Amino acid sequence: NWKMSDFIDQQIEKIRKTVGDKKVILGLSGGVDSSVVGVLLHKAIGTQLTSIFVDHGLLRKNEADEVMASLEGKFGLNIIKVDAQKRFMDKLAGVSDPEKKRKIIGNEFIQVFDEEATKLHGIDFLAQGTLYTDVIESGTSTAQTIKSHHNVGGLPEDMQFKLIEPLRTLFKDETRQLGEELGMPHDLVWRQPFPGPGLGIRVIGEVTEEKLEIVRESDFVLRDEIKKAGLDEKIWQYFTVLPGIRSVGVMGDGRTYDYTIGIRAVNSIDGMTADFAKIDWDVLQAISVRIVNEVDHVNRVVYDITSKPPATIEWE
Ligand code: XMP
Repeated sequence: NWKMSDFIDQQIEKIRKTVGDKKVILGLSGGVDSSVVGVLLHKAIGTQLTSIFVDHGLLRKNEADEVMASLEGKFGLNIIKVDAQKRFMDKLAGVSDPEKKRKIIGNEFIQVFDEEATKLHGIDFLAQGTLYTDVIESGTSTAQTIKSHHNVGGLPEDMQFKLIEPLRTLFKDETRQLGEELGMPHDLVWRQPFPGPGLGIRVIGEVTEEKLEIVRESDFVLRDEIKKAGLDEKIWQYFTVLPGIRSVGVMGDGRTYDYTIGIRAVNSIDGMTADFAKIDWDVLQAISVRIVNEVDHVNRVVYDITSKPPATIEWE
């Protein structure tokens, strides 16, 4: 009978055997997957693990502070936080193709890593929160690449690290069970999934500071209202998207010509397939009113009612 506690014991033994007395570096993204890997590795090899948290400027509101407070503060992980917002924005300037954006963000991530690892001296391993779903969708084990998830694809060929991917056989729900079993706080473990490229793929087309701000603020309002409605642990993933189109509206006496925000909320087991969440009209209305009132340059809110397939969860 397969038990999560056995899995932990096996993984710890395996990690210790693989790593020996060498050092490991881990990229923390703020999501469930890399956090679980961090806590698991910390348990297995303690101070041989150094975590790098790259703030690429594509995170949700307050996310960086929350991650640091939880993983460094509570769990005692050794975390180096890198403020790399400008680097990512410079690289993304003028780029609108989704796959190019993913590759740029993924490559830049690895490069920031490489630089930090070089500074640290003598790092042999790179740990990653790759899930079974990522492996499949990046075409490692199937012929077709759907989206090049950056924690699998896009690694430079001359990369100096050996990979450690302890979640490679797990689905998302199993990863959460693993987190619970490791004693991680409920909030952190049941955090909704968040893609590595972050808000960079939720601003459709070219990423600008102005657009990032709109998507970040609208996402914050959405999350607040979903939580108030008691739905934050009932809906698998929910976020806002900025399609980049503008449309005509009316506010007070004046005509407006401003951006549309798309709301995406889905239920899923593992992200492979998904149904759009049937949120009550009242809740959707409250979200819409608040986004238009509180977020500058938004005059319209639409709800995405497509399932996966045929649509994907993210819009890019
Ligand atoms: P899609 O859009 O492919 O998303 O239906 C399925 C799940 O994967 C997340 N996702 C990503 N995660 N890097 C990641 O780490 C990525 O490039 C990426 N793209 C999508 C998405 O948020 C959803 O949970």
